[in-house]
Amino acid sequence: MPNAADVARYPLIPWPRSLEPRAGELTNADAVTARLDPSIEGDEAYVLDVTPGRAEIRARTDRGLYYGRQTLRQLAATGRVPCVRIDDAPRFRYRGLHLDVGRHFFPVEFIKKYIDVMSVFKLNTFHWHLTEDQGWRLEIRKYPKLTEVGAWRKETIVGHARKGPKGYDGTPHGGFYTQAEAREIVEYAKARAVTVLPEIEMPGHSLAALASYPELACTPGPFEVRTTWGISEEVMCPSEQTFAFLEDVLREVMAIFPGEYVHIGGDEAPKTRWRESPVAQEVIKREGLKDEDELQSWFIRRIERFLNLNGRRLVGWDEILEGGLAPNATVMSWRGTAGGIAAARQGRDVVMCPQEDMYFDHYQADPEKEPLAIGGLTPIEDTYRYEPVPAELSAEEATHVIGAQGCVWTEYMPTPQHVEYMAYPRALALAELAWSPREARDLDSFRARLAPSLALLDRLGVGYRRP
Ligand code: ACM
Repeated sequence: MPNAADVARYPLIPWPRSLEPRAGELTNADAVTARLDPSIEGDEAYVLDVTPGRAEIRARTDRGLYYGRQTLRQLAATGRVPCVRIDDAPRFRYRGLHLDVGRHFFPVEFIKKYIDVMSVFKLNTFHWHLTEDQGWRLEIRKYPKLTEVGAWRKETIVGHARKGPKGYDGTPHGGFYTQAEAREIVEYAKARAVTVLPEIEMPGHSLAALASYPELACTPGPFEVRTTWGISEEVMCPSEQTFAFLEDVLREVMAIFPGEYVHIGGDEAPKTRWRESPVAQEVIKREGLKDEDELQSWFIRRIERFLNLNGRRLVGWDEILEGGLAPNATVMSWRGTAGGIAAARQGRDVVMCPQEDMYFDHYQADPEKEPLAIGGLTPIEDTYRYEPVPAELSAEEATHVIGAQGCVWTEYMPTPQHVEYMAYPRALALAELAWSPREARDLDSFRARLAPSLALLDRLGVGYRRP
């Protein structure tokens, strides 16, 4: 655990793997060098050496050099750079922050700012939740109606959908990212050591797609882009037409997003329509499946095969465990930790984002005194204390926990300012638990280091919630 004197002098978030304090300060701010050094182990590792005469960053990769610069930037934010030797590398290779642009659309400039802030704190994966019942946000050339129709809803529910809604606002809402804009964001992120993980939801949370192409559903439609929150009964039908559509869409997605992973959603897909659909029942019979849960697994496995053939790996929410997990899938555990534990025990990689601690759409303080949120209560202390490796796992199973993620669902966040209020500073707690050694984590130390990071957020114009 870092001692109080070091914390005061080196107010870093996340705290590094190893830090040797040194007397004195950097006297020549121009004497900063950065160079690649193949002897340093780890794709994200770096060494930062500051003596009065110079600051030197070494790393094996550009990512590592980038992180060294971020550390230097945080030290400099105090107004002087104290001498030090830091030998740093992350605990987890996946350190994610998610943003739902389906419930509300946010402009490209804000997406870039979101990535900027992530990268200052060494978060390395931007999970871009691009499709929803309430809006499809990515241009797909082969299916123009996805954005002509699916990117727009006629109005939005006012108030909390489950607690006395106050009608509808009568105001159309929408927007989408062109492929050129999405590519620009991928490049922007790459320059900041961030990978973009695109999510295309299937078979549920897809009403905007069904409104655009009703033939993808099990019932005739027509459908409307959803104007309220919650779970829709409408899902994609497991027909050949649907798979042809999804493969076409995913081909365009893979051409835009070069990362190893593609997220296919898989959560909250009610089975009512499949139970009533001759097409779905025929697939169950033909494939010898037991029920609709197994049908969903079959659906996801088929998509996984397609992604794997194209050299990509599938990620899905923990519902993809129901009815049997696809052979190479990575699971995002959001309904608590049970899904993550089960997947790790089956030898699958998992990202931990249990809603109790990692959902930044939850209230962060007394709901009476906070802006309307979806529910829950996740103060920053709860996020900070969250340990991504469940105690139930053996050491071998624990190697499958590749990291953690904070999720920002935007039903009740109509503006960028509101997203920032909910995401920060909780995302800084996430950054530390995903990067720093477990034994370095200490809430008092984190609190003591927070002020300079908040000052940095102020300078970046981020409207975080003041703790
Ligand atoms: C989720 O929150 N439905 C993944």
